[in-house]
Amino acid sequence: MAPAYDPTSPFKGVKDLVDHNVLSLPSAYIKPFEKRHNPEEVFEGIDLPCVDLQSKTAMEDIKFACEEWGFFELINHGVPEDVIEDMVKNTHTFFNLSTTEKMKYFSEDVFNPMRFCTSLTPSKESYLDWHDHLQHWFKCDNLNNHPYPNIPIHYREVTKNYVKNMQILGKRLLMVMSKALGLHENKLQETYGNEEMIVRLNYYPPCPDPERALGLNPHSDSGGITILWQDQVGGLQIQKERKWYNVRCNSNALIVNVGDQVEIITNGIFKSVIHRAIVNRNLYRMSMASFFNPCAQATITPIQELLDKQNPAQYKARLSKDYIGDIYNKYIEGKNVKRED
Ligand code: OGA
Ligand code: NI
Repeated sequence: MAPAYDPTSPFKGVKDLVDHNVLSLPSAYIKPFEKRHNPEEVFEGIDLPCVDLQSKTAMEDIKFACEEWGFFELINHGVPEDVIEDMVKNTHTFFNLSTTEKMKYFSEDVFNPMRFCTSLTPSKESYLDWHDHLQHWFKCDNLNNHPYPNIPIHYREVTKNYVKNMQILGKRLLMVMSKALGLHENKLQETYGNEEMIVRLNYYPPCPDPERALGLNPHSDSGGITILWQDQVGGLQIQKERKWYNVRCNSNALIVNVGDQVEIITNGIFKSVIHRAIVNRNLYRMSMASFFNPCAQATITPIQELLDKQNPAQYKARLSKDYIGDIYNKYIEGKNVKRED
């Protein structure tokens, strides 16, 4: 006889709970009152800047968005629709595999090149997030010898194609952002060194008690820039001037946001922003985040050309990998990077 299912065990993920018809929210997922999301305190109609990457004003628009918002919608981004669609199908198939199949890839080690996990690092957290994810950590040249799941069969090809497109887009964004800062177009890329990309495929199953749970705790992204695809369900919220706003879904757009390391490199001119994901009672939601990051060994420090007497360096130099490690190992909620006093 199969062992009795233990609904309090968080490690197999939330999709597994839902597959076992868990009808009330297990206590591990109940957020303390002050951390819950209050629908009455969320604002609609946020005017998130929308940047058309092919327009003549793309550079100024990106400059404004990164300085004022840290987040923007990106249209005409050049990633072919079928590349995204194939990746979405791939991701969907993966999360619908049996728990046993997915658990073959389970790991809590954030530096693992491929890992399936739930919440962030469940063994270290007091309250778990209502989502599962599959995460790949690509060094720039390891697309071929990187590990991929065996199922679905086209996973490897489809993912490689998606990542290549995201790398091209990431590089293009860095160029535009460099020029927007008044720097040589290769400047940000140079500070990145051999860039890396973490692709995090997020799956948020329907949640029996969405008001007491969260899909992702409030956080800022610890990398360079994030390029997010989200489906039409909605759930991403950003914080601006202490208020929460829903990010609208636009099927033609990708969402781009500044991560902590670009905030540091630009000495705070571009800002990383706190965001979170809420969950839904009836619908599952998927998102795919591509974190376009500096080389793990790169020293992250403000660019000299952006500093002068009036604008001294606001952040200490640290290795890129330490920022990424922090968010997992110390489980920092809220903003992960602070200016020096
Ligand atoms: C993330 C993230 C948002 C979303 O993966 O860091 O913020 O909507 N995702 O899934
Ligand atoms: Ni994020």
